[in-house]
Amino acid sequence: MAELLKAGLIGCGDYLRWEIDDLNSNTYLKVKYTFDLDHGKSRRIAGKINANPVDAVGEIFDDPEVKVVMIFTPPWVRKDLFRKAVESGKHIITTKPFGSNLEDAEELYGMVKDRVNCAVYYGRTGNAHVEMIKKILDSGEIGHLALYKEDWLHHYPVWNDWATDPEKNGGPFMDAMIHNLNKARYLIGSQVKNIHYFSDNFAQSLKCRDTEFMKLDFENGAAAYLFITWAADLEVFDPTGNDRVHYGIQQLITSEGWYITEEEQDGIPVIRAVKERKVKTWEVGPLSHTKYDQFSINLQEGKPQAADASDAITDMQIMDAAVKSLSY
Ligand SMILES: NC(=O)c1ccc[n+]([C@@H]2O[C@H](COP(=O)([O-])OP(=O)(O)OC[C@H]3O[C@@H](n4cnc5c(N)ncnc54)[C@H](O)[C@@H]3O)[C@@H](O)[C@H]2O)c1
Repeated sequence: MAELLKAGLIGCGDYLRWEIDDLNSNTYLKVKYTFDLDHGKSRRIAGKINANPVDAVGEIFDDPEVKVVMIFTPPWVRKDLFRKAVESGKHIITTKPFGSNLEDAEELYGMVKDRVNCAVYYGRTGNAHVEMIKKILDSGEIGHLALYKEDWLHHYPVWNDWATDPEKNGGPFMDAMIHNLNKARYLIGSQVKNIHYFSDNFAQSLKCRDTEFMKLDFENGAAAYLFITWAADLEVFDPTGNDRVHYGIQQLITSEGWYITEEEQDGIPVIRAVKERKVKTWEVGPLSHTKYDQFSINLQEGKPQAADASDAITDMQIMDAAVKSLSY
């Protein structure tokens, strides 16, 4: 039977806007301390999740009751925190992109490998819709996923100055479309064979380019077409965070010609597949645990982490090959 483990949360930035509800509903992982270089942010988040804000990060690493650290700092400020976590035997949960580039991510992975559990969370982690689509595809009932296409259009990040810096975070693909690179690989469930990558600038004057597109061919014949643009100045509702118009258009087509969508039917979320006049629907129920509880349970039961850092390394290798294929 899993117990309630205590965690330290390091980095209380905008990412937390999506995480508060999960953190408050956890049964097996509770945040005991928060820390941010900006103490005001740390205090604000601590107040929302009933944790104690600490003045120095060392207080988190020195407390033997803390078993897990959530390192939600940007990718370029993780190495020292990872080193301290591993030295003090704390397991790690962090977010995409794993590092600023492949070299960085490999250094982080080298620190944790075979020493502590390390999960890298993406948008699909703990997402009930994605898990239901995966289950349907794996059942073979409508074939395997042959074509994954996703378009994302939104304003470039304005709430910080690191996300548009290629040295710290890559460009729009590494910052955001990497969510769908990871999701496409998960749903297709095959090895990547070929990568075609394009990076262009149409309208912005950022350190990075504003538009990126990747086509991935998989060993099983499937393909993913992943496109993101920050070229359009779509509305930003709140410049202090990721609160902006976001157009996300997803197309999923199986090897048997079924077209899959995520819908609501009578207020119930469903996955729907259509093929000519045939229609199939599957209800999307809630997952049994939050992604944090699942991490805690897997840790205590000695099971592999679903969002293990080894999977994030594959994304970083693909990004590295893609960027190296560009000719400027
Ligand atoms: N904001 C989102 O919508 C979102 C969504 C998914 C994933 N993410 C990922 O979450 C991570 C953080 O992004 P964000 O949007 O929260 O960034 P942010 O800039 O809003 O926040 C980062 C926070 O880290 C703090 N920080 C920096 N160095 C630190 C250190 N050494 N010790 C303690 N705190 C430190 C900063 O003071 C800041 O509060 C990134 O990897 C990002 O890709 C963000």
